Amino acid sequence: MTPNIRRIAINTGGGDAPGLNAVIRAVVRSSEQRGWEVFGIKDGYDGLFEENGIIRLDRSAVRGITHLGGTIIGTTNRGDPLNWRVLDEQGSTILIDRSQEVIDALAAHEIDALIAVGGDGSLSIAQALFEKGLNVIGVPKTIDNDLAATNLTFGFLTAVETATDAIDKLHSTAEAHERVMVVELMGRNAGWIALSAGVAATADVILIPEIPYEMERVCDKIQERYAEGRNFAIVVVAEGAFPVGGEPLFQRQGGGKQHLGGIGALIAEEIAEHTGQETRHLVLGHLQRGGGPNAQDRLLALRFGAAAVDLVAAGQFGCMVALDPPDVLAVPLAEAIAETKNVPIDSDILKAARALGTCMGD
Ligand code: F6P
Repeated sequence: MTPNIRRIAINTGGGDAPGLNAVIRAVVRSSEQRGWEVFGIKDGYDGLFEENGIIRLDRSAVRGITHLGGTIIGTTNRGDPLNWRVLDEQGSTILIDRSQEVIDALAAHEIDALIAVGGDGSLSIAQALFEKGLNVIGVPKTIDNDLAATNLTFGFLTAVETATDAIDKLHSTAEAHERVMVVELMGRNAGWIALSAGVAATADVILIPEIPYEMERVCDKIQERYAEGRNFAIVVVAEGAFPVGGEPLFQRQGGGKQHLGGIGALIAEEIAEHTGQETRHLVLGHLQRGGGPNAQDRLLALRFGAAAVDLVAAGQFGCMVALDPPDVLAVPLAEAIAETKNVPIDSDILKAARALGTCMGD
């Protein structure tokens, strides 16, 4: 049955990704065409627990934002209403469930449906709220491209472009100094960014979490290059990569979350030790999330935003918009969060990397 919609809300949750503002603009513009009002919840769900945390988003509020990075309504990767962190009387952190407050706050604002833009964490929250009766539509976002049920998430292609540019620049300094340069890229437990940018920027070695590496293979490849008179090498490593028989490295704890990191430094140290070559490392970090979306991400984000509004109008709640080239269609949210989308070991991009002579660490 087609629902009677008058007001909808949108939020952006988890780590930001280039294209969030483009989604917001598409949602507002297409909702206004249907005569609906749109409200933005500030900082994920946090805005629902604060005064003035819900803001009216009309046409003028979203003017000129398509090309901008970040999100005009803010985001957080700490505000899970189902596992809200509070201090008990002893000063210890405990988790409480505030999901009913979310539902009540949206009802109090007469919001008929929520468009939740996020990655695996935010969309798991969206699914839980849907199961509690909220009218929710998901929009897949993450630079990591690790969400199942969609061919692409917006933000990924921009991150790959940023990483490719960075690796291109490392080539000249590596060659000038005859050094090995190791660059650590984001992607958590999926190697999409490292593999894509590594292949595009012709890295000599690419290490991803899907293929546990052997240091000996990595060093053999580097020594082979130097023996051929190519006196520099570029090694791209995903933050979640780990050696055969080993585990991913975590660098610090913050807000109850474990943060991957440090593998680039470790690998650089081991390369220097085993090959005797001067080696440097760098972590590209949040640069990969920063800046405006490239044209492909803008387009995908705008298409996702418009499609999400169509799903609200059709009453297809509990679904996420997804890219199934060339179409944008609806898939169950549950399907999207069921598993991490890793790089398939038989994927053509991996085959291409190997055909080009890239060492994958195995
Ligand atoms: O957006 C996903 C991601 O980029 C991961 O690849 C990375 O580990 C994480 O976010 C870091 O996010 P933050 O530093 O914001 O917690």
